[in-house]
This record gives sequence, structure tokens and C-alpha cells, in this order.
Amino acid sequence: MSTVATHPSHSPSGPATPRIDGLAKVTGRARYAADDVPAMLAYAALVQATVALGKIDCIATAEALKTPGVLHVLTHENLPRLKKVSAFPMGASGHSRLPLQDDQIRFAGQAVALVVAETLEVAREAASKITVTYKNVQKASAVLDSVPPERIAKQGLMDKMLSEDSTRGDPDKALAESVLVFDAEYETSRCFHMAMEPHATTASWDAEGNLTVREGSQWVDGAQDVFARWFGLKRGQVRLISHFIGGGFGSKIGVYPHAALAAMAARECGRPVKLVLERDQIAPLVGNRPSTRQHIRLGADSQGHLTTIVHNTLNESGKDVVYNEPGCRSSKSAYAAPNYRSENSVAKLDITPPTWMRAPGDAAGSFAIECAMDELAIQAGLDPLHLRLRNEPESDPDSGKPWSTRHHHEALKAGAKTIGWSARNAEPMTRRDGNEWVGMGMACASFSSLRAPSEAKLILKADGHVILESRGVDIGTGAYTAMAIVVAEALNIPVSQVEVRLGDSLYARSAIAGGSMMTASLGAAVQGAASELLEELIVKLVRVKHSAFHRAERDRISIGPGRLVLDGGEHGSLSYGEALSLVGQDTLEVLHRTHPTFPSRLLGPKAFTTLAGVSGPSSGQAAVHSSGAQFVEVGVDADTDSIRVRRMVGVFDCGRIINPTTARSQLLGGMIMGLGMALSEKGDVDSHYARAVNTSLGEYLVPVHADIPPMEVQFVGEYDAASGPLGSKAVGEIGITGVAAAIANAVYNATGKRLRSLPLDARP
Ligand code: MOS
Repeated sequence: MSTVATHPSHSPSGPATPRIDGLAKVTGRARYAADDVPAMLAYAALVQATVALGKIDCIATAEALKTPGVLHVLTHENLPRLKKVSAFPMGASGHSRLPLQDDQIRFAGQAVALVVAETLEVAREAASKITVTYKNVQKASAVLDSVPPERIAKQGLMDKMLSEDSTRGDPDKALAESVLVFDAEYETSRCFHMAMEPHATTASWDAEGNLTVREGSQWVDGAQDVFARWFGLKRGQVRLISHFIGGGFGSKIGVYPHAALAAMAARECGRPVKLVLERDQIAPLVGNRPSTRQHIRLGADSQGHLTTIVHNTLNESGKDVVYNEPGCRSSKSAYAAPNYRSENSVAKLDITPPTWMRAPGDAAGSFAIECAMDELAIQAGLDPLHLRLRNEPESDPDSGKPWSTRHHHEALKAGAKTIGWSARNAEPMTRRDGNEWVGMGMACASFSSLRAPSEAKLILKADGHVILESRGVDIGTGAYTAMAIVVAEALNIPVSQVEVRLGDSLYARSAIAGGSMMTASLGAAVQGAASELLEELIVKLVRVKHSAFHRAERDRISIGPGRLVLDGGEHGSLSYGEALSLVGQDTLEVLHRTHPTFPSRLLGPKAFTTLAGVSGPSSGQAAVHSSGAQFVEVGVDADTDSIRVRRMVGVFDCGRIINPTTARSQLLGGMIMGLGMALSEKGDVDSHYARAVNTSLGEYLVPVHADIPPMEVQFVGEYDAASGPLGSKAVGEIGITGVAAAIANAVYNATGKRLRSLPLDARP
């Protein structure tokens, strides 16, 4: 449809709107993957390997099988073979290898058996009776330094493409010629996924061999495809339901092997089976943000103008799939340095394959580059804020393309004003409040705006209500509400007249709820669908005789509140419902695609089930990035050296903000996650047994209310046409970026202690 019927606002933000699913959530009507209790439901419990590397010698299940109420025990000896599925980015499986397919143990905590029983209690009791002995047990490598690093670009062809290594100019020559040179290493810890909702699968098969899975998934298309491939089914034979998720943060982008076991158990038992991971099973079975070591070298002239950035990252990886955590994402477009190089390496370990966690690459990378910038500022005798302003690039240094929109200066200046940066003293140990040394720190934040193909179905009903159906998922971010706003703005109706149905493979295909790309991607489809709906209604209406609209030219018809208006109202108007009844229909449906044709045959079928359809930030004429500034004030106890964040201010350019209420909430959440990463989150590994140690919420320390200071979020972006018809850029992940660096820089400002390792520990 070529004519655009509506003109949704290009104002910097949409209407602040409370979550339309809020009531359902607080009253328990929102159904999560584990909430479903189908008839004849059976419950599953996993048994995990106690060694990290070796083979199963003997697995004794007789006692478990004798337990009253036990239905089945699945092990590698009796589990039917599942088909292999590519791990992301080439598929939506979190792991490339499935457990219980052979006797191999590849990492500590790997599943070795699944018990199915009438009740959860029986399943757990029986699981505890299974004894496993192992042979060929070897010492596993589980920490960064236990194996030599390998360059990602020197692995297979795919790894070379995905390495994210890049070079511009001649960084070695430039470093040698720079007046100021800075060189340091930074370390970040392994972080465990601790979403409120644990991973859960409820699977059932019908008599025709069709599979229904309730799975907390950020990616319905991907998950549906993975289940279909595991079981050799057509995609249409798998219904994947992910209506609500209690947090994903990347841990629910892939589907993990335990979900395959649950679905297989359901098939073998001929009953629906539910498997909910226990809290301490998530880290070993799902995957984590890997630890990194990053080497930063900066060269600058005497005025602090950067000549060079070299940013090398080493991260933990599993062995089967090379997992890249490219810290360089946060440095290659950040500053106007003509010379640049990044190299990414992995340590291939006998660990659960790492996975994405909010702002993969950027969260760790921003700690390194933004601390290094602080250190360079001090070396140059400059205010760290001025060093940033001085090195602001006119265009994207990485792609060479112009920025689409960029309000980075405004973000830095607004943040500085709000925190009161002018009151900061450059000299450490000069501000004291009670027993605390007080300091301020800042860092830049950034995240690429990605886009992926999407579809959306809209259904107009006779009462003027509109239903949106999409496989897109609301991972707690507010997608239900954002998409309702997009429909409401495009059709000029109240949000309350929009019903949003998400997260079900019965609906239209969608971009992933990850990579901060869903709002812009799915929103483009939704807005297009709204336009198409109106045009179709108009085309039908002008054909109806005995109506004022009969044979009216298109330009005589405009859109009023919930209605079609003729000649500016001079010759009447019709509500959408009235128009619909005039054309003699109860409903009108449209399906809009953002991708009328795909550039290649290869991409077509895989556009929704792999990441091959994702367009990068510089895929168009301009470079589209969200950017921002993080400012914090900390207090460091003079006796105990404990670090407390006293205030946080984040100012962000994320383009047009569809819903300031939920966007603010996402950014607050990101900043809080950054505070956790900075001060307490550390997935400990027992280097002898190669096990993740502190896997429960009692031992893995995420921030609690008492840790959270007064926080402020501001927006400085504008409508960004290059990011798509909504004008919105990435929101979901940028909030965490830069936070840990801002806190570390503030600790330096408070105490004079430079901490280069996360979580920060200021004790001597
Ligand atoms: Mo995010 S790590 O793409 O959920």
C-alpha cells in the first residue's frame, strides 16, 4: 500500500502510559510458562553431573523407578535421539550439543537424567535416589587463565565473520607517535542470569503428534523452530506460547537442552510434562555472561584529542561453539580516534557455554574503555567530562557514515547539570560526608540500534476496537503497552480500544525481543498494518453507494479521532465501526510485513529463525546508535572501604520514546543491573571441580532495595527517521552500559583508588 493514511506524531515522546497488562500481572491473571496445569500433568526433575569432564560409567535408576508415583526416568541409555540444531546466531538453540545423547560429561552441572512423576515432590525425591558413577574423569579447565587464549578470527569461517575484529588507520604507528599514551588491563567477572522467573517448560503432545510448548522465550519464532528441528517436525506442528516472561535479559533468547528433555519426556510418557529449573540449576544449565580481560591502549595529543584506541578482549567460551563477548562494541564508534584496532580472543573452557546477558559486549566493554578514558583525563590534567566532549565524533568513526540523530553533547551536559558536576573536586579525598569519602564519576553509554523483519496482524472490530496479534514477546519491558500505543497513535484511537495479543506462534512472525530491537522492528510492522487497515477500509467504503463517501477521492478523506472524516468534516464523518458496518463486514483484518521481498533466497526462510535477518546500525545511509551519559555519586566508608552509590543520573538519546513510563523503567532497571555488576555480582567458580559455586540468590548478590540510591532518568533524543517509521532507537540494553565505569571512576574520585576489576573492591 503506497499511501500513508496517518501521520503518527514525530514528537520526541509518546504518551506516558501505565502498563496495559499491569492489572493482569498483579492479579495473577497473566500466565507464565510454569502456570499452566493441563489435565494429567506430570512433573519433571533433573539430575546433574557432579564432575565437569568425563564419561558416565554407571547410572543406577532402579531405586528411583521403584518410588511410588514415578512415571519414567530418562537417561542417555533410553532417551530417543534428538536431532542436532545450530546454536545462535545460526539457530535459536542455546547449546549445540544436547545431554542424554551420549555418555559424555562436558561441564559441571550438565543434565544426566530426568525423572518424571505424578507430583513435583516425588520427582525430586526420586531424582535424589539416582546414583551416577563416572570414568575417565579429567581435570577441567574452568577459569580464564587455565588455557591459552585463541583469536576468534583464526577459528572457522563463521567465527572470522563474527569476530568483530576491526582496524582503521595505523594504530601502532599512531601510538608510537602519541604525546600521551595510556595502557591498562581491566577485568570483569562472570555474571549469572537471575531473572525473577526461572526457566520453565510445559510440553504436551496431541494424538496427531503435534507439540504444544509453554516456554518463557524471548523469541517465539526461534524457539518454535528449535523444537521442530529437535523432533523432526514441521514448524506448524509446534505451537510455542510465551505470553508473559518474568525477565529474560538474554537468557531466554535461546532454548536450552532441558526444554528438549521436558518435551521428550512428555512424548515418552504420553502426558503433559512440566519442568521448572530450580534457582541453582539456571547458571549451570542455561549460561552466563562470561568473565573478560580487556587490554586498552590509548594515544592522544597533549590536548587530549585521541589519536588511537586499541581494545582487545579475551573472554570465557565453551568448546563447541565459540562465544564472543566483544568489548570493542563500546569503543569502536565512541570517539573520534582516527586509528583503531580491536582483537577478540576466547579461552575455550569446560564450562556451560556462555550466553548473552543485557548489553553483551557493551556492558563489559564500556567498563574498560570508560575507565580508561577517566584515567587518560587524569593523566592529561583534564576534566573527564571535557575529555569526552573534546573527542565527540562528528560522524560514526567505525562506518564513516553520518549519525542519523545524535544528542550526545546534550546528554553529557544535562547529566552533568543534574548531578551537580561543577561541584566535583578533581582531587581525590577532598569531599567528606560523615564517615564517607564522597566522589563523582561519569561514563558514556551507547548501544547500536538493530532492526529485524517483522509482521503484524490487525483486526478491526465493529465496536471500533482493534486487536493486534504478534509473536513478539513482552519480556517485562512493556511491549504490550508500547505496541498498543503504536496502534492507538496510528489509528487515532485511545489505547484502551486496543487489545494486544503477543507471544504465541499462532500469530504473525516477529523480530526477537532482544538486542534492543523489538520495538523499532515490530513497531514498524504494526504501524504499517494500521496504515494498511485504514486504506483498505477507505477503499471498501468509497465503493458503497448511498454514502457520502461514495467515490470520494482519497485526498478528501482524513483521519479524525477514531473516524474517517470527509472534506474536513464538512460532509460528515464515520467512526471506524460505522464504516465497517456500511461495507457490510463484522471485522477487517490485515497482515503487514516490513519485508515485502527478501534480498536472498537464503535469508527468506531463515529471517525469523536465525539472526541472519538482523540489520546492523550502519546498514543504511546513516549510523543509528543510542547514546547516553551515566553520572554517579558514591560514598566510600573511610573505615570499612565499602562502596555505596549515593545518586545516579542517566541521560539517554534513544530516539523517539514510544512510552516514557516503561522506557524509564527499562533504563532504571539497566542502571540497577549496572550497579549490581559494579559492586556485587560475581559468579564464583571452583577451579578444582570447575563448578559454578554461588548459584542461588542467597549467595549471588544482586542489588536489593537498600542498595538503590535516588535515581533519575532523562531523555534527550528526537524522532529518528533512519531507525524506521517509529523513529525510536534502542532502549532495552543501553541502561546498563557505562554504569560500572561511572561507579569505578567515582570511587577513584572519592578515594584515589583506581579499581580495574569487577566487582569493585576498595579494601586494601
Ligand atoms: Mo538481550 S542480551 O539481547 O535480551
